[in-house]
Amino acid sequence: MNVLFVASEVAPFAKTGGLGDVAAALPRALAAQKRGHDVRIVMPMYGRIKGADGAELVIREISLELGGNRVIVSVYAVELPGTEVPVYLVHCPGLYGRQGIYTQDHDEHLRFAVLSWAALHICQRLGFRPDIVHANDWQTALLPILLRTAFAWDRLFSQTRTVLTIHNIGHQGSFDAKVLSDIGLAASAQHFHQDQLREGRINFMLSGLLYANALTTVSPTYAREIQRPEHGVGLDAFLRERSSVLFGILNGIDEDEWNPQLDDKIPHRYSSDDLGGKELNKKALLASAGLPYVPEVPVIGIVSRLAWQKGFDLCFDVLPAMLRHRAVQLVVLGTGEPKYEQLFAALARRFPRQVAYISKFSEPVAHLIEAGSDMFLMPSRYEPCGLNQMYSLRYGTVPIVHRTGGLADTVWHFDRSTGRGNGFVFEHFDEGGLRFALGAALKVWGTGAGADRATWRKLQMNGMQSHFSWDERVAAYEMVYRMVAPGR
Ligand code: ADP
Ligand code: GLC
Repeated sequence: MNVLFVASEVAPFAKTGGLGDVAAALPRALAAQKRGHDVRIVMPMYGRIKGADGAELVIREISLELGGNRVIVSVYAVELPGTEVPVYLVHCPGLYGRQGIYTQDHDEHLRFAVLSWAALHICQRLGFRPDIVHANDWQTALLPILLRTAFAWDRLFSQTRTVLTIHNIGHQGSFDAKVLSDIGLAASAQHFHQDQLREGRINFMLSGLLYANALTTVSPTYAREIQRPEHGVGLDAFLRERSSVLFGILNGIDEDEWNPQLDDKIPHRYSSDDLGGKELNKKALLASAGLPYVPEVPVIGIVSRLAWQKGFDLCFDVLPAMLRHRAVQLVVLGTGEPKYEQLFAALARRFPRQVAYISKFSEPVAHLIEAGSDMFLMPSRYEPCGLNQMYSLRYGTVPIVHRTGGLADTVWHFDRSTGRGNGFVFEHFDEGGLRFALGAALKVWGTGAGADRATWRKLQMNGMQSHFSWDERVAAYEMVYRMVAPGR
């Protein structure tokens, strides 16, 4: 099949979170030679883009007439590393040449509407006839409506069907309805949800939910959760209506990038046969974080966007109490909302031999934390899939998680009596829950003479033997593609 994959971030070019990882790994797996698909990616050419030095100009000028505005874009192409998949970078410095990938600027709607318009113009200019246009999250959720309205005349798209993957329903792209003309869709107003329009709003994600031929989300549990009011963020009723075409497909992980045997970002490689390298990474992690190394003291790692979603509100009381009473260390990497940054900075000041807070975005540090920690904490309020718990399992780093979304589909509470389970899980999102899971982890870790390394090792092995490769997941996407694409 011909697949046009459109996303607001694609690693290594641009990444703020898991979408960037998935938007690289899924197309890479789909494009594997044995599958025979022609996959192409479209993303913005941000001002700060990595690894795109060799990009070649492929389309000099596309002029988009959007309402009264004319937006001119050009298109560069690079290959997705390790593949021949072309990545078309939409160049428009006026829109994308900013500090961050996402902004709070007044024209955020336009920045991403232009991405969708440009993606379809690129197909026209290159004569690429997609069987599937695969959109991701609100930033590209206008694609289905564009194909049904502004591009409906073009026979190039007569066989094109759309799939929208929801990576996070918490971000919907909801704007004042006045922006419809700025994004060139004034004439399509009747296609937007009429009640919302009367209230003066348009919602990019909702338009995608209504018009995409199929919807997917990134874990089976999240697919069920978002159909209920607690997790649907106002869109659950629409999702229930479309439940026959909504599929939960667990994300995979890029097993070349996240593999302790091959990882060139960590000082010591290791495998489940010999965890000696892991202990050396622990030493290296603590040295680089400025903390003392004591083999018997477990290190808990955190690598995260510091956002409400991630559940760190539970940590304000629970972590100081734990750090006071237990021999445990914490290494945190992440940036985001000031109140969480302040929480971890304050912990590092108060417990200087136990806590290190690294306030930046750094892939090498993320790898070292995965490799060098004993446990990994993800107390997320909600988690559509979550990648770090899978990376942790792969690295023999035992995850401690709230049972939600993809965390519920990948981590099972360890039962010492049967030796089954790969982590520690709490059911209820409250401080008692978090305390329970941390307590259970520290108990199995043990102290002094009570430490039972064999049990801990069994727990690590249960995780390290899990399979999360995209090769297995990609067949589920192919099934969805075949279901919607006529004649396939
Ligand atoms: P989300 O997409 O909601 O942020 P995921 O667990 O799916 O959550 O993916 C997060 C990705 O972003 C992982 O690859 C993680 O390593 C990475 N990441 C998050 N914060 C940082 C950071 N400060 N430095 C490096 N990588 C980070
Ligand atoms: C989102 C979700 C995360 C998921 C990622 C990739 O950012 O928050 O849970 O793993 O997308 O699908």
